[in-house]
Amino acid sequence: MTAASGSPDSEAQISVHWREEDYYQPPARFIAQANAADPDIFRRFDEAHFPDCFKEYAELLSWDAYWHTTLDTGNAPFWKWFVGGWLNACYNCVDRHLAADRNKAALIWVPEPEAEDTRTITYQELYRQVNEFAAVLRDFCGLRTGDRVTFHLPMVPELPVAMLACARLGVIHSEVFGGFSGVACGERIADSGSRVLVTMDGYYRNGRLVDHKAKADEAVRAANELGQQVDRVLVWRRHPGRYTSQTAMVDDRDCFVDEVLAEHRGAVVEPVSMPSEAPLFLMYTSGTTARPKGCQHSTGGYLTYVAGTSKYYQDIHPEDTYWCCADIGWITGHSYIVYGPLALGTTSVIYEGAPTYPDTGRVWRIAERLGVGIFHTAPTTIRMLRKLGPDEPGKYDYHFRHMTTVGEPIEPEVWRWYHDVAGKGEAVVVDTWWQTENGGFLGSTLPALQPMKPGSCGPGVLGVFPVIYDEDGNTVEAGSGKAGNICIRNPWPGIFQTIWGQPERFLQIYYQKYCRDPASTDWRDWPYFAGDGAVQAADGYFRILGRVDDVINVAGHRLGTKELESAALTVEEVAEAAAVPVVDELRGRAVEMYVALKPGRDAGEEIEDSVARAIEREIGKIARPKNVWIVGDMPKTRSGKIMRRVIAGISNFADVGDVSTLANPEVVEEIRHRIQREK
Ligand code: WT7
Repeated sequence: MTAASGSPDSEAQISVHWREEDYYQPPARFIAQANAADPDIFRRFDEAHFPDCFKEYAELLSWDAYWHTTLDTGNAPFWKWFVGGWLNACYNCVDRHLAADRNKAALIWVPEPEAEDTRTITYQELYRQVNEFAAVLRDFCGLRTGDRVTFHLPMVPELPVAMLACARLGVIHSEVFGGFSGVACGERIADSGSRVLVTMDGYYRNGRLVDHKAKADEAVRAANELGQQVDRVLVWRRHPGRYTSQTAMVDDRDCFVDEVLAEHRGAVVEPVSMPSEAPLFLMYTSGTTARPKGCQHSTGGYLTYVAGTSKYYQDIHPEDTYWCCADIGWITGHSYIVYGPLALGTTSVIYEGAPTYPDTGRVWRIAERLGVGIFHTAPTTIRMLRKLGPDEPGKYDYHFRHMTTVGEPIEPEVWRWYHDVAGKGEAVVVDTWWQTENGGFLGSTLPALQPMKPGSCGPGVLGVFPVIYDEDGNTVEAGSGKAGNICIRNPWPGIFQTIWGQPERFLQIYYQKYCRDPASTDWRDWPYFAGDGAVQAADGYFRILGRVDDVINVAGHRLGTKELESAALTVEEVAEAAAVPVVDELRGRAVEMYVALKPGRDAGEEIEDSVARAIEREIGKIARPKNVWIVGDMPKTRSGKIMRRVIAGISNFADVGDVSTLANPEVVEEIRHRIQREK
C-alpha cells in the first residue's frame, strides 16, 4: 500500500509502506473490571443520539445548575456546549471528593533526587493549598474572573495547585511548558494579556538543578517589548526558604510564594460558579505562522469531555494509582494528569526529571514502588526506553492493567515492545490520537470492547465521527488504501472555543477548507480539519501519518516551521531559512535547518552554531536542530517561494519528484551532493 497525499508540503509523504497488523485482544481480567464493557454503549453514542449522548459524560460532574441546551450551533462553528449550565472546575476536582475521600492521595509527586522524599498530597491537603493560593491570586495579585495569568512552571505539584486555584476563581490560566525559553514565554504572556507570571526558581533535570527564574526576566522583557506590562512575578521556591537562582529578585515585582502564602494560612475561598461556556484555560500551540495560537478551552464542555474519556478510555477507577508520564505543560498533562483524573477522584502520579535519569530503570522503579496500575506515555519515551534499557521492565515487580500511547504515530515494532515487555503482556494498550485543540481523545479503541492493532489508533471515539477527505472534499473510503486529510464531521464537548484573540484564524485554519456553507448553522456543514494525513483500513481503524501543514512533530512536541525560520533569521548573517523534518530513530522526527547567507558572508561553523543557539533562545532546547546546513541558495518556485518539500525530500534521501518547474532546479543537485557527502 502506498500513501499519497495532496498537500504539497505534506509530511505524510515521508512514511509510505506498511502491512496490515494482527489484532491483539484485551485480557479477560481487564474486561471483567472495565468501566465500559457493555457493547450497548456504542448504541447510546451513535449518530442518532448526537449530541445528547454527551449528557452521559456531563453527569459525571457536579453542576450548580443544569444546562437547557446540550449543543447550541447558532454561531457556527463557535459551538456552545451545555448552555445554561453552571459549575466550578476546581470544586469538581477537589471539594466534592472531600466527604468520602478526604485523606486519599490526590497527587503523588516523585522528585528527581532519589534521596528526596516522595510527596503525597491528599484531597484535604490539596483543598487547603488550592484555597490558600487562590487567596494569593485574588487578594494579593488582585486577579478577577476572566483575567489571564501565565505560568512557567516545571513538573512540581505547585503547578496543578496553581491551575486549580485559577479554576476556583474563574481566572484563565495559561501554562507555558517549562522547557520553553523566556522569549517564547514572553510572547505568550503578551498574546494572552497576562499581568501576572507564576514561576519557580529551579527544578531538577538529569541530575542538575536548572536555574529557571533566569527565564522569567527574559520573559518579562520580551512581553514588555510586545507592549504587555507584567506587574507581578510570583516565584515558588523548589526548596522553600532557600532561593537557588542566580538572578536577583526585582523589587516591587518579584515575590516568594512561600512568604506571601504565610499571610494567607487557612484562607478559604469560595469556588466561583461559572457558566459552562466560560474559558477555563489557554494552551498555546504552533501553527502555520510564527504567532502561536492560544487554544481557548471551556469549563463545562472541556471538563465533561476529559472526565468521560478518562473514565471509559483510560478506564480510571477512583481506587486507581494512575500515572500519565507526560509534562503538565502540554495538553496531555492538563487533560489526563490534572483535570480528568482528579474529576474522577483518583490518585494521579507526577514526577520531576527525565525517564532515563539516573538510569533507564527509573520509570519501572517508580511504577513498582507506587503500585501504578495505569500508565500513559509517548512513543518517544517508549523508543528511548526500548533502546537504552530493553530488559529493564523485567527487573521490576509492577503490573499494569492499562497503558496508553499518545502524541505521535507509533511503529508496530515499538508498540509490541511496549505491550510485551513494558506491559509484560498483561495490559491493554490504547493508542490515542488527538491534539491540543481537541481537549481530549478523538481516535482510540475502547479497551474492553475493541481489539488493539499496533500502529493504528483505532476508530473514532464515542460520539466522534471522523472521515477522510481528499483535497476536493470527496470522502476517501475506508479500505481504499488511499490517504487523505482526516476531519471530524461533528462537534464534541472538548473542542476548543476559538484561538484567543484571533477568531478569523480559528475559522480559516480549522473550518474553511471543508465548510459546505458559511451561512449554515447546521453542524453537518462544518467538518473540523485536523491537519493530519491518515488512512482508514476496512475495519474502520485509522492510521495517522503525520502533519500535512507546516508543523513538525518532534518527540510529540509541535514546532511550527515559521517559528523556527523566524528564529534563524534573527542571526545577522542569515538571509533565508527553511526548516524541514527528517526521520529520527528516537524522536520520530527531528528538525533540520537550511540557511542561505547574505551576500559576502562566509559560511562557517560559528554561523551554524549561532543558528542553533538562536532557536534555543527563541523557542527552547526541544527545538534545537539536528543539523544546520548553510547552502548557496534554496530551491524556489518561480514566484520565489522556498520549496520545503523538495528540501525535506533531499534531507530524507527520498525522491523529490519533478523539479523542472523550479526557478533554479540546479540547486537541488548541489544540495543533494553536499548532504550525501556529509551525512
Ligand atoms: C499532533 C497533535 C494531544 C496529545 C499530544 C500532542 C500527532 C497525536 C497521535 C497518535 C499519531 C498523533 C498528530 C496531531 N499525534 N497523537 N496517537 N498517533 N499521531 O498534541 O502537540 O497538539 O500535537 O500530534 O499529528 O495532529 P499536539
